[in-house]
Amino acid sequence: MSEVGEIYLPSPAVSPYSQAQLAVTQIRLGPMEENPVATHVIPSNAPLKDIDEWDDFLTGRYQEGKSEAEFRQYDEKATPGVAEFYRLNHQYQTFDYAIAKEKEYFGLNKGEKSIWEAAEFLNTLVDDSDPDTDLTQIEHLLQTSEAIRKDGHPRWFVLTGFIHDLGKVLCLWGEPQWGVVGDTFPVGCAYSKDIVFPEYFKANPDINNPLYQTKYGVYEPNCGLDKLHMSFGHDGYIGEVMKNYMPEESLYMLRYHSFYSAHRHEQIQRV
Ligand SMILES: [Fe+2]
Ligand SMILES: [Fe+2]
Repeated sequence: MSEVGEIYLPSPAVSPYSQAQLAVTQIRLGPMEENPVATHVIPSNAPLKDIDEWDDFLTGRYQEGKSEAEFRQYDEKATPGVAEFYRLNHQYQTFDYAIAKEKEYFGLNKGEKSIWEAAEFLNTLVDDSDPDTDLTQIEHLLQTSEAIRKDGHPRWFVLTGFIHDLGKVLCLWGEPQWGVVGDTFPVGCAYSKDIVFPEYFKANPDINNPLYQTKYGVYEPNCGLDKLHMSFGHDGYIGEVMKNYMPEESLYMLRYHSFYSAHRHEQIQRV
């Protein structure tokens, strides 16, 4: 059993998981080569000053027992950065964009990192927010996996918690925030009305494609979740990276952990 801090990865004799190498693009070196602690700061014109701001927004929005007035505070006036982020996300996450990004990244031909190396790489992503109140990316991964361990779940589940956000390394290769984070949705079929800020889909070219706007769109009824193309982001990418190493349950967790309209509103029943 190899040990990395509080993270225990199974040995190859126990399971194939520890052989998992994250296939990733080579880190753009240059300044980092001379200074290994260099960080990637989110550009000041990015809509989210903190890469997880959208998640905090949704957690608040979906909190149970919220009154109508409280619910309304989750709009573009109260949260301009998050609203701008979703405006871009809903405009640019087209069917063609998702397919093109799958082609670009799902070949996993960008290089290799161990899980811990990938976590350290991700930790170089620094938000323009109060460092005293926000968890680093590694702290978030540890907190998630340790909470899963505390609840007595199996070891593959603990590891799933640790790796669930490693796909955010996409940010470090220049992918825009709207192409990495945010809740995901199927492309190539009608948008669920339960997706946050649905009005922003008006600017998505797919809205003018009649096939993409039917209930099943390009998919067969009851085809199964794995046949869907989701809006591109960190979930789908890490799911693809780990597909030969983790059990099916884990892969579903990785691939759909930001699919809020399914978690919260059962859009999933359609497929
Ligand atoms: Fe995530
Ligand atoms: Fe997360």
